[in-house]
Amino acid sequence: MNFIITDTYEEMSRMGAAEIEAVMADNPQCVLGLATGSTPIGLYADLVADYEAGKISFKDVTTFNLDEYRGLAPDHDQSYHWFMADNLFNHVDIDPARTHVPDGFDPDAEAACAAYEEAIEEAGGIDIQLLGLGHNGHIGFNEPADNFPVATHCVTLTESTINANSRLFDSIDDVPHEAYTMGIGTIMKAKKILVVASGEDKAAIVKQAFFGPVVPEVPASVLQLHPDVTVIVDQAAAQACEMGSTEAVISMTVE
Ligand code: GLP
Repeated sequence: MNFIITDTYEEMSRMGAAEIEAVMADNPQCVLGLATGSTPIGLYADLVADYEAGKISFKDVTTFNLDEYRGLAPDHDQSYHWFMADNLFNHVDIDPARTHVPDGFDPDAEAACAAYEEAIEEAGGIDIQLLGLGHNGHIGFNEPADNFPVATHCVTLTESTINANSRLFDSIDDVPHEAYTMGIGTIMKAKKILVVASGEDKAAIVKQAFFGPVVPEVPASVLQLHPDVTVIVDQAAAQACEMGSTEAVISMTVE
């Protein structure tokens, strides 16, 4: 695992964008796994800026998002379909037909999730998967559990996640209680994984996830077992890790 600490959120975003752009440069037809949440917003803004500057193109890129709320229409302003259009897809030259987000509006959870898993396989798998980190260690919407779910599936969101995400809805009662999410197995199959985390409120979970035991109660801890993971966190999110450096960027290898 490559664990990188940056001074600021902006620097975390820039380094994260550079990781994705390196994959795009290597293979313009790559498959990107994308994430929502507040953390990657700066990273997406950097990708858009680099597209506008003519440095990158999404023309032949395919994308798969991690998750979507069950029951929200794609044009609901809190749906992850909407988030991706607003933060990335509407601003770059990506072919909308190549962008994929689980169909949260399909009431048939089993069919929707199976179709999503199949579409990822058909695209040849994910080259780099971007992840944020939930306060309880969730990745995508894989909540703490007593096992690691393998494939795309329907989950019941925990109270902690509903509370955390309620800041984006008019009222907590509007937050959906279920979501469709890639499984831990789907995520672990990605060739590369990039995790971004920012802020003091993520410090405790960053330490548990990347320096604690690998347990399904902390879903992100499984990433320690992936052969090609880069974790980029800002100083605030790294503060519980006790690495005690004031360098702008520290890169360390965790065996
Ligand atoms: C949501 C998403 C996750 C995301 C997490 C953290 O629950 N499903 O994919 O990583 O929130 O979000 P934030 O970056 O806003 O803290």
